[in-house]
Amino acid sequence: MEIISSVRHMQEKVLELKRQGKRIAFVPTMGALHEGHLRLVDVAKSKADLTVMSLFVNPTQFGPREDFAKYPRDPETDRKLAESRGVDILFTPEAGEIYPPGHQTFVVVTELTRGLCSASRPGHFRGVATVVAALFLIVQPDAAVFGEKDYQQLQIISRMAVDLHFPIEIVGVPTVREADGLAMSSRNRYLSPEDRKDAAFLHRALLRAQEIFQKGERKPAVLQAEAEKILREKPNLRLEYLEIVDAQSLQALERIERPARAMLAVHLHETRLIDNVPLIP
Ligand code: PAF
Repeated sequence: MEIISSVRHMQEKVLELKRQGKRIAFVPTMGALHEGHLRLVDVAKSKADLTVMSLFVNPTQFGPREDFAKYPRDPETDRKLAESRGVDILFTPEAGEIYPPGHQTFVVVTELTRGLCSASRPGHFRGVATVVAALFLIVQPDAAVFGEKDYQQLQIISRMAVDLHFPIEIVGVPTVREADGLAMSSRNRYLSPEDRKDAAFLHRALLRAQEIFQKGERKPAVLQAEAEKILREKPNLRLEYLEIVDAQSLQALERIERPARAMLAVHLHETRLIDNVPLIP
């Protein structure tokens, strides 16, 4: 596995690969890799001749009171995991390279960034769209792979790729879960043993909504109320939102008559967790 830290070097490498007619698949990450990321690598490898993974904790997607400083960083373990799963090029830029001195250019996707996570994380998706656009321009992949756990992010990036004419196939990969259903996330490392047990109730609540939906219930309010009952069993879980939205536009629905998504965000003490499941009529 080749490790490249400079933008210029990455650009030269991409030019060389393009000249050789190689197809590139890209897995952008913020490191602290887990099986969920490595599953993205498996999918990337099925899409192209070479897989590039970026490790970059992107400062612009964290709010001033968020966890940028304490976000888990373990580059040596990440390097070993990426290499063992077959990543060909690991791109590890410094913030000063991605955001050159005087940087003032941002990418904003308007409608899809209005609700859900944006309510508590204003500016988050502006940071995500900006860094992903910059990484796309540097790496020039043919395909880019993202986890469905960050479903709003996936929809925003898909929209951005269409709107800005990136010739890139955006691939979403189903969430990888722990044995008790907890969606894998780098932030799970913050959980105390007790909170870790309670965290399984996020998926349990979503499964309850899915179960009632599969029995024929089409009213979001009923699904939401049933799922919230499950979350209330654990007093330490503080619900930020639980919404049933259209799977593409992420708009709230009156009735579920087309593919939808049950999405939630919950706080467990200092840790914020998100999850979602599909509801397909
Ligand atoms: O999902 C993530 O890890 C990040 O939001 C991403 C897409 C790598 C952008 O920093």
